[in-house]
Amino acid sequence: MRLSAAQLEQYERDGFVVLPGLFSAGEVDLLKSELARIGSIETDHIIRERSGGVAKAIYRAHEADGPTASPVFRAAVRAPRMLGPARDILGDEQLYIYHCKCNLKTAIDGSIWQWHQDFGTWRHDGTPSPDLTTGLVMLDEATEANGCLYFIPGSHRLGSLEPELDDTTTSYRLWVVPKARLIEIMEQSPEPVAITGKPGDVVFFHPNILHGSGHNMSRHDRWQAYFVYNRVANRPRDVQNPRPDYVRSTNFAPLEPGDDDIAAPVGQHT
Ligand code: SIN
Ligand code: MN
Repeated sequence: MRLSAAQLEQYERDGFVVLPGLFSAGEVDLLKSELARIGSIETDHIIRERSGGVAKAIYRAHEADGPTASPVFRAAVRAPRMLGPARDILGDEQLYIYHCKCNLKTAIDGSIWQWHQDFGTWRHDGTPSPDLTTGLVMLDEATEANGCLYFIPGSHRLGSLEPELDDTTTSYRLWVVPKARLIEIMEQSPEPVAITGKPGDVVFFHPNILHGSGHNMSRHDRWQAYFVYNRVANRPRDVQNPRPDYVRSTNFAPLEPGDDDIAAPVGQHT
């Protein structure tokens, strides 16, 4: 699948583009059953909520090895319907997965993600420029009550803002936009938009778009997968004490397009 000129224009203007119904109900069930299986594994690739220890984020489901490996996720990141739009957005065929993160914002327990730009963290990883794009796959219906994402449209055009490290609000350390600067930006921006949608919907978004999400106040889970594509040419430079491979991948081999049949393990296609 490739994006139209209108879709690319929308991405450039707003910092995101919505692609409804990219995964079928059966595929979503398959992806979710993989995450349910992986969620019970004890590993540092899984960040858990402080309350109750349920999985908040599962990393590195997309590789062939490691504790969280899943052949279905490995196929999904290579599926032409994901890799094609990522290539169009970044204008490059040589892409690799910076990381694959699945946020299981569980009913009642699932906690907030403070307002931030993803590149606020990734530049500390040594990544030269914001030449990345993230494909968000909705695995449940995302609603305002269960903690859907919010975007400030067009905020990616502000460039990279000076972040501060918040290591107290949740179990996940995050480089966030300081409150005073955030409010100043919000006063001059369109209202944040709620990224609600159905299971199987996909949203590609820019690493500098300002985004965040609230606590899950509902009885419904809000699981989402995030496939972050980076240009091989934009791979991180050496930094002292780099973050682990599951968040800052060192597998820079360019992705070969796979099959859109994600149920069949990668490598078994002709
Ligand atoms: C993120 O911004 O990295 C995650 C936000 C969410 O899953 O709500
Ligand atoms: Mn983010």
